[in-house]
Amino acid sequence: MRSLYCGELNESRLDQEVTLCGWVHRRRDHGGVIFVDLRDHTGLLQVVFDPDTADTFAIAESVRNEYVLQVKGRVRRRPEGTVNPDMPTGQVEVLGLVLTVLNAALTPPFQLDDQDVQEETRLRYRYIDLRRPEMQEKIRLRARITHVMRSFLDAHGFIDVETPILTRSTPEGARDYLVPSRTHSGEFFALPQSPQLFKQLLMMSGMDRYYQIARCFRDEDLRADRQPEFTQLDIETSFMNEDDIMSLTETMVRELFRDVLDVELPDPFPRMSYDESMQRFGTDRPDLRIPLQLVDLGDVMQAVEFKVFAGPANDPDGRIAALRVPGGGDISRKDIDGYTQYVSQYGARGLAYIKVNDVASGREGLQSPILKFLPDDVVDAIVSRTGIENGDLVFFGADKTKVVNESLGALRVKLGIERGMLQGDWEPVWVVDFPMFERDAKSNRWMALHHPFTAPKSDDPEALAADPGASLSRAYDMVLNGTELGGGSIRIHHTDMQQAVLKLLGIGDQEARDKFGFLLDALKFGCPPHGGLAFGLDRLVMLMTGASSIREVMAFPKTQTAACPLTQAPSAVAQGQLIELGIHLHKPPEVKV
Ligand code: AMO
Ligand code: AMP
Repeated sequence: MRSLYCGELNESRLDQEVTLCGWVHRRRDHGGVIFVDLRDHTGLLQVVFDPDTADTFAIAESVRNEYVLQVKGRVRRRPEGTVNPDMPTGQVEVLGLVLTVLNAALTPPFQLDDQDVQEETRLRYRYIDLRRPEMQEKIRLRARITHVMRSFLDAHGFIDVETPILTRSTPEGARDYLVPSRTHSGEFFALPQSPQLFKQLLMMSGMDRYYQIARCFRDEDLRADRQPEFTQLDIETSFMNEDDIMSLTETMVRELFRDVLDVELPDPFPRMSYDESMQRFGTDRPDLRIPLQLVDLGDVMQAVEFKVFAGPANDPDGRIAALRVPGGGDISRKDIDGYTQYVSQYGARGLAYIKVNDVASGREGLQSPILKFLPDDVVDAIVSRTGIENGDLVFFGADKTKVVNESLGALRVKLGIERGMLQGDWEPVWVVDFPMFERDAKSNRWMALHHPFTAPKSDDPEALAADPGASLSRAYDMVLNGTELGGGSIRIHHTDMQQAVLKLLGIGDQEARDKFGFLLDALKFGCPPHGGLAFGLDRLVMLMTGASSIREVMAFPKTQTAACPLTQAPSAVAQGQLIELGIHLHKPPEVKV
């Protein structure tokens, strides 16, 4: 239907006859001449209709925004003074000779170049929203990214294998989405939280190197970088150790950035232990663009009278840390109150601070409501450990370690971004040496930090059971600019170790058989050593396109309440369907209007 795309027109096409198809982006009636900016995914092009071709002109008069047109016309240079340097096709225009309206359109619910449209409206009319050039760009870049990844993996001997969507619960730790079975009344499938168990089974099936661009489903609280349904680039290999897997996957990411963004990432990516990351940044996904870090002070606070500090200093689960903000002396009382409010969402009960006027004058040169509670040796330790200089400000967090890490870790990022301290554009890092387990504060049970199929560093199930809290796993996370891009591990490939780990997690033999019997069996029939990793594709695309949320890089995302305004899903179903599934609702569904 067309001879070329709108964005392909330039001076090299002068005087050519062309046929174009696209949408009316804008129509302007300039007293006797009609201008239509015709849009397709390659860009905008100005088409001019003049009254000399009367039939065509009459049609042009009738078109409105978002009408779908076919235009036959001749390319010509724009008259002097009407060249538009902001438009790639701005040197030329097409004189419209034959115009066909392929389809009319209602007035769109929003203008395509309006930047302030409510997200709900954009999602409801997503097919219009996706026509915007910036959305086109993101979705197309996403396709380019998956293409490069597939090519890389194909070239390295990986095969693409699909795994079931209707399956059993998988152990990634979120709530499952369940699907009732009609043929097995009262029983449910779970949608996969990841293809984890299937990809391990594929290794046991001799597939050697697997990948899949896999949809995952997790019913969890949503955030800017979390969706209930998201996509992983999922990878698994046999006979490779963690260094091999990290090296292969970071090579892929380096090639991807080079190819798509023309960015050279470091080779190799730096590595940091989980402990160091928690210590210095309060998180296991450190944003290394921010030159701020936490400094421990617990050991010098044990004897202070100030209870806010003495308590955590003497609590084995407590932490006191300082966060020095160079040049932070300009932070006002009001801003400090704002930051105190900010950290309170992570459970912090306050945010002590010291302003540094003149460090050489000792405590006289410092300014803080807590100074009076701190003896000289403590003040000296604060000064020397944080390395404060005149004009700085130091924040303090004192609480359970988890609260201090989460609150100061988040404050560090907020300050780094707000105060324009980011250094470098792209800072990848591997976080390694994760603990195998962490204790759940509520149940006091051991929980797997990664998932229950992750191998410990030690091959000895007895050593593991003797001190679970001290054992490290063979897991690794790839972090980029403070976002966890992907995570994986070497897996357990011996039955006795798998049973020992499940037992430590409080999963008894019977429960283990019920839930993962098929995997435990498979381990006994010739399971190769194997491991892998999964990238959060949406997060990767979000970072690479500079989008603020993964919703911006998904064609049809869900809202923060896990609903789809476009299709109105989820929705009530007919009573007959429920009966067929053997389901009785406690409360009849509310009818949505
Ligand atoms: P994990 O649970 O760490 O590991 O998930 C891997 C990556 O998937 C992304 N991700 C998400 N992205 C968007 N929305 C979500 N709700 C969401 N949850 C996770 C993250 C994360 O790093 N089977 C293991 C991988 C393995 O061991 O090989 C797994 O799923 O970027
Ligand atoms: P208060 O004794 O509650 O008036 O607190 C004195 C100072 O300590 C204030 O600046 C509080 O913000 C701060 N503060 C209180 N609790 C904590 C805490 N858990 N961690 C860090 N600072 C705190």
